[in-house]
Amino acid sequence: MDYLNIALPKGRLGEKVYGLFAAAGYGCPAMLEPNRKLIFENEAAGVRYFWAKPSDVAIYVERGAADIGVAGKDILLEYEPDVYELMDLGLGRCRMCVAGFRDFRDDPARTLRVATKFPNITRAYYAARSRQIDVIHLNGSIELAPIVGLSDVILDIVETGKTLLENGLAPLETVSSISARLIANKARSKFVGHRIDELCGRIAPLLEAEESQ
Ligand code: PRP
Repeated sequence: MDYLNIALPKGRLGEKVYGLFAAAGYGCPAMLEPNRKLIFENEAAGVRYFWAKPSDVAIYVERGAADIGVAGKDILLEYEPDVYELMDLGLGRCRMCVAGFRDFRDDPARTLRVATKFPNITRAYYAARSRQIDVIHLNGSIELAPIVGLSDVILDIVETGKTLLENGLAPLETVSSISARLIANKARSKFVGHRIDELCGRIAPLLEAEESQ
C-alpha cells in the first residue's frame, strides 16, 4: 500500500486534528506519547505523520514532502501556497481582527501604523480600503505594540478575546473567519489521490455528525 504522508501542526490544534484522523481509522497511538519524536508510522493503516511547526505545514505540503496536511486559513491567506484546499475541518475556529484601544479613532490624514504577524493580509486588507499604512512585522505578543506606542492598531488572531481584554484592548473590525483546512500537494494528488479521497470520505461524515450536535 502507498503510504500517505501527513503533516500536522504541533500543539493543541494538531492533537485535535489527530483525534479526528484517528476516529476516521488512521490512528497511530504513539503520536500522543510524551516524547520529542517528530515522525510516526502506522504500517497497517498506511499512514506516516509528521509534527511540523504550524506555520510550516503548508511548506511541507507545497513541496511534496507531505502529501496532505492541516493548516490554518490564516497561513493559507498569508502565504498563498500552491496547494489544493480540500476541506474545512471546522477545528481551531477563530477570527482575524483589527484591534486596538476601544476609543481608537482613525485619522485619515495620518499613515496608520499596523503591527502584525500577517503583513500580506494586512497590506491587502488596507489596499482594498485605499488606506495608507505602515506595516510593522512582528513575530508574536502583537498586543504589546499599541500599548507601548509602537503601532496604532494590530491585525491579529482573536480566539477567546482574553488576550485583548486583559491588555485593555478590543476588537475593532473583523477581517475574516479562520479555521483549520485540509490541504494537499497538487502533483502527489495524482499518485495518492485514491488514498486522499478515501480519507476525505471517512472524515466528512464525522464532521457532519459534529455539526449536527
Ligand atoms: C495568538 C494571537 C493572540 C492570541 C489570541 O497568539 O496572536 O495573541 O493567540 O487568543 P485569545 O483571543 O484566546 O486570547 P499566540 O498564543 O499564538 O502567541 P503569540 O503571541 O506568540 O503569537
